[in-house]
Amino acid sequence: MTSTITLISGAARGLGLETARRLSALGHTVLVGARDPERGRAVAEEVGGRWVALDVADSASVAAAAKDVAAHEGRLDVLINNAGVTGPFKEPAELTGEDALAVFGVNVLGIVRMTHAFLPLLRASADPRVVNVTSGLGSQTLTHDAERVEHSVVSPLYTSSKAAVTMLTTQYARGVEGVRFNAADPGYTATDLNHHTGTQTVTEGTDAIVALATEDASAGTGRAVDREGPLPW
Ligand SMILES: NC(=O)c1ccc[n+]([C@@H]2O[C@H](COP(=O)([O-])OP(=O)(O)OC[C@H]3O[C@@H](n4cnc5c(N)ncnc54)[C@H](OP(=O)(O)O)[C@@H]3O)[C@@H](O)[C@H]2O)c1
Repeated sequence: MTSTITLISGAARGLGLETARRLSALGHTVLVGARDPERGRAVAEEVGGRWVALDVADSASVAAAAKDVAAHEGRLDVLINNAGVTGPFKEPAELTGEDALAVFGVNVLGIVRMTHAFLPLLRASADPRVVNVTSGLGSQTLTHDAERVEHSVVSPLYTSSKAAVTMLTTQYARGVEGVRFNAADPGYTATDLNHHTGTQTVTEGTDAIVALATEDASAGTGRAVDREGPLPW
């Protein structure tokens, strides 16, 4: 049996890097999606995979990455849409349309670009899966619960982009036959994204991603989970 071929966007650092390490240790052939050639190649060498040049904000880069995977691997079993940005930390009143385009361009449009470009390769797999990395900050229930850390954050663009990621996931799951789409919330994890203020390790932060990438087809599609279980909407 050939090994599972898994592409991870934003795999050169943070949760993407840890996901690459863990899935590689579980026997996946990891395609390290990264913008920076040096970092991408170094991580690919570390995990025994291959660097794929990938900027999810750029349709031409995404199309070229799909062409590259078609030429080298000929199929994709698991797509992990992990790349994400917070956008600027500003007073909400100061946020501009350009700020929104930058955040949604990566977090939301990036997933649409990747799904569009890679679906033909996923369809060539016997058990295709897409894992979208969302956030509890996109959950209305959690951001309105004063007991939760998600309640302490006011970041209109990031939170709304992650709400869109969760909904995109459930809509693709309903609308695309034969491919499983699920969303993982890592939980508050120490990475560059939050200047390492997160309270979880990257291993804890990748538990839900790794679970969705490796679970059996009977686990289903159209779900949003964190490492404890279902993520409230
Ligand atoms: N850390 C948390 O507490 C937490 C919680 C919930 C959800 N998340 C989500 O988890 C995911 C990973 O975040 P992280 O914490 O690991 O953050 P991180 O350390 O800042 O890493 C972000 C990754 O995204 C990549 N990226 C950004 N823009 C990109 C683009 N246009 N094209 C391709 N890659 C791009 C970065 O690549 P470069 O190295 O090239 O910049 C980097 O590899 C994100 O979707 C984030 O929203 C994180």
